[in-house]
Amino acid sequence: MNHPIVDTDTLTHPAVRLERVTKDFGGGVLGLDDVTAEFRTGAITVLLGLSGSGKSTLLRHLNGLHRPTSGSVSVLGQDVASLRGRPLRTLRREIAVIFQHFNLIGPMSVLENVCTGRLGSLVGPRLSLMMYPESVRRQALEKLDRVGLADRAYQRADTLSGGQQQRVAIARALMQNPKILLADEPVASLDPVSAREVMSLIQEISSENQLTVISSLHQVQLAIDFADRIVGLRSGRIVLDQATEGLYAEEASEIYTSVSGMALAGHGGR
Ligand SMILES: Nc1ncnc2c1ncn2[C@@H]1O[C@H](COP(=O)(O)OP(=O)(O)O)[C@@H](O)[C@H]1O
Ligand SMILES: [Mg+2]
Repeated sequence: MNHPIVDTDTLTHPAVRLERVTKDFGGGVLGLDDVTAEFRTGAITVLLGLSGSGKSTLLRHLNGLHRPTSGSVSVLGQDVASLRGRPLRTLRREIAVIFQHFNLIGPMSVLENVCTGRLGSLVGPRLSLMMYPESVRRQALEKLDRVGLADRAYQRADTLSGGQQQRVAIARALMQNPKILLADEPVASLDPVSAREVMSLIQEISSENQLTVISSLHQVQLAIDFADRIVGLRSGRIVLDQATEGLYAEEASEIYTSVSGMALAGHGGR
C-alpha cells in the first residue's frame, strides 16, 4: 500500500468523534447512553465491556448502520447521521469492518474472497475470479502476501484455520485501502495463540498505514498489549477511558472488575 500523505490536520483532528450520543432502542433499552469519545487518527482503541454493554452498537454508529437518537457522530470530518445514498457509500469505502466469524464465503477461493473487498467500487456482479480486473487480482495477491497467506490463494476459504480465515478477512478489508478499521470481537472465536497473531498483524498494519483501529475485545491483556487506549463500556455508558501505556497487570484486572461492574470505588459509573 502507498504511504499516505500525513498532514498535521490528520494528526491533530480525531478520525472519529462521538458527542453525547444516545441510542434508544425502545422499551427502555439504551444501546448507548450519553457517550462522548474521540478516536485519534492512526491509534488503536479497544472497546472493553461485557456482552450487551454497547460495543457493537457504538461500532455500528460509525458506518451509519445505526443513527443516534440524539447527539452527533463525526467520522473523517463528516456528520454520519446526515449522510444518505452516495455520500454515505463513499464514506463507507473508507471504513473497513471485520467480524468475529470472519464472514468469508466458504466454498470460494481465498483469493476470490479477498477480491470481494473491492466490490464496493466495481460496477456489476462478479461471478468468478476471472471476472475481476487483473489489477484487482494482483492487488489481492499483494494483500494476501501482507497477511502471510499468499501460498493459500487458490485454496477454499473454509479449509483454513480460524486464525488464517481472520487474516484473509483482514486482507479483504485492506482491498478498500480504508482509513478506519472497525473490528467487532475479531479474536473471540480464536485460540490464544492465533488471537495474539491476529492482534499483532492489526497493530503492524495500523502503524504502517496510519490506520485508525477501533476494536471490541474481551481479553484485558490483549487490550493492554496491542491497544493505545482502552474505552470501557457498561450499560451503554463509558466507565473508563485511559491510555494503555504504563498500565500494569494488576490495574488490568481492576479495569476488568470495574468494567464488569463488580467493584471498585473511583472506577465506577458516572
Ligand atoms: N437492533 C437492536 N434492537 C434492540 N436492542 C438492541 C439492538 N442492538 C442492540 N440492542 C441492545 O443494546 C444493548 C447493547 O448491545 P450491543 O451493542 O450488541 O452490546 P455488545 O456488543 O457490547 O455485546 C443490549 O442491551 C442489546 O440488547
Ligand atoms: Mg457485540
